[in-house]
Amino acid sequence: MLYIGIDLGTSAVKLLLMDGTGNIQKIVSRSYPLSFPKPGWSEQNPEDWLRETVAGIRDLTADCDHSQIAGIGCGGQMHGLVALDADDQMLRPAILWNDGRTAEEVAYLNETVGRETLSRYTANIAFAGFTAPKLLWMRRHEPELFGKIAKVMLPKDYLNYCLTGVHCTDVSDASGMLLFDVQHKRWSPEMLELCGLRESQMARIFESYEVVGTLTPEMAETLGLPKGVKVCAGAGDNAAAAVGTATVGDGRCNISLGTSGTIFISSKEFGVDPNNALHAFAHADGHYHLMGCMLSAASCNKWWMEEILKTGEFAAEQAPITDEKLGNNHVFFLPYLMGERSPINDTNARGTFTGLTMDTSRADLTQAVLEGVAYGIRDSLEVAKSLGLSIPRSKLCGGGAKSPLWQKIFANVLDLDVDLLETEEGPGYGGAILAAVACGEYPTVEAAAETLVHVTKTIHPDPELSARYETQYQKFRQIYPAMKGLFPVLH
Ligand code: XUL
Repeated sequence: MLYIGIDLGTSAVKLLLMDGTGNIQKIVSRSYPLSFPKPGWSEQNPEDWLRETVAGIRDLTADCDHSQIAGIGCGGQMHGLVALDADDQMLRPAILWNDGRTAEEVAYLNETVGRETLSRYTANIAFAGFTAPKLLWMRRHEPELFGKIAKVMLPKDYLNYCLTGVHCTDVSDASGMLLFDVQHKRWSPEMLELCGLRESQMARIFESYEVVGTLTPEMAETLGLPKGVKVCAGAGDNAAAAVGTATVGDGRCNISLGTSGTIFISSKEFGVDPNNALHAFAHADGHYHLMGCMLSAASCNKWWMEEILKTGEFAAEQAPITDEKLGNNHVFFLPYLMGERSPINDTNARGTFTGLTMDTSRADLTQAVLEGVAYGIRDSLEVAKSLGLSIPRSKLCGGGAKSPLWQKIFANVLDLDVDLLETEEGPGYGGAILAAVACGEYPTVEAAAETLVHVTKTIHPDPELSARYETQYQKFRQIYPAMKGLFPVLH
């Protein structure tokens, strides 16, 4: 049978067609706009997601035997607020995971309601991108629209609703709303009340690998697919990517270098970082995970290449960065172009280049951008290590994982063995695997991921280079604390 995996990303929707043995038969990608209506704000139109996903599925399945298509699974950008009225119409553009407008609501939640209380209710504290602070923002700034909310949805859940007519969500994505009791996998009545919501406004909760429904007759016709095609609940993109890289079960690690950068540690037991610097979320394999998320990762490099250097030749720009340059850069880059989530939780933080001299070259700045992102992930890795977690190796996926130079920088900055996989399409592949489990092709998510995911290459850190990077990282660590007080003044 065939399975469609969808990665509903921030810059594009990426779709793939997988057969029951895990072979990818076709990949399609369709982009859509992202708007920044004010500095630090980030929005998208859910109708763009739907239009491009529908076109993408039609293109993906154009040449295959439609009767073989059994299931669809989606991994989606997390935390976005999609507010629907009683007729399931959009009340406003979606407010995305990297939107920083809710600094006041976050301060209210963390300081007035209190971190301990939030962590008791949800296993997490408030971060600007999470859904609950956005609802409080909407209640305060758009009270009329807030009063009309009939359903609070997450991005991929909106797609699943359009496909099946079911208002559904899954445990991994619901975890990022700050409305969900992660340990017990149910809506938190206290958090709903705090945000002025009723449970009837929330979607029905499923495990990621459960079937939520089949295509509606209208959608089946639009897509040209059989009505019986099953849609599974899917997962937040990081949990889906973890499935797609076999980061399942206990103590495995995956780093995803997409628009955001995340470090994801799977666990069979529920556990919370006592400082809540890492998120404690449910996993798509039925268990749990800890995760650190930086808001700008591969997007820093994309911004630097496309917006500033005005080039699409990423590899050519990286060519002058030879081995002897690594670990010796006098320029440092803070990757906080959208503020930062993990571990510093600071919407005021901004990107900076530091240490420039007259002999600084274009390539030094490019290198600083790649290194700054790796140092940012190292910050979250340090938090995980401080919890006593042993992390000897990690998978690497996402668009940024394609660069051999960035792979080497990551292995040495983090001093980890970095495993590369046959497919870097983490969330889409994970979505397809979840669909295969939902359709009964595999008994569990773990069994499917273990069978289908293959490591093709491991990058080992070089002791000399990782020692140089250790020294560099210790310098990097001092830059943000020195700048922190200045950032609010710069706004
Ligand atoms: C995770 C997060 C991002 C988005 C990106 O907490 O906010 O990784 O899911 O799509």
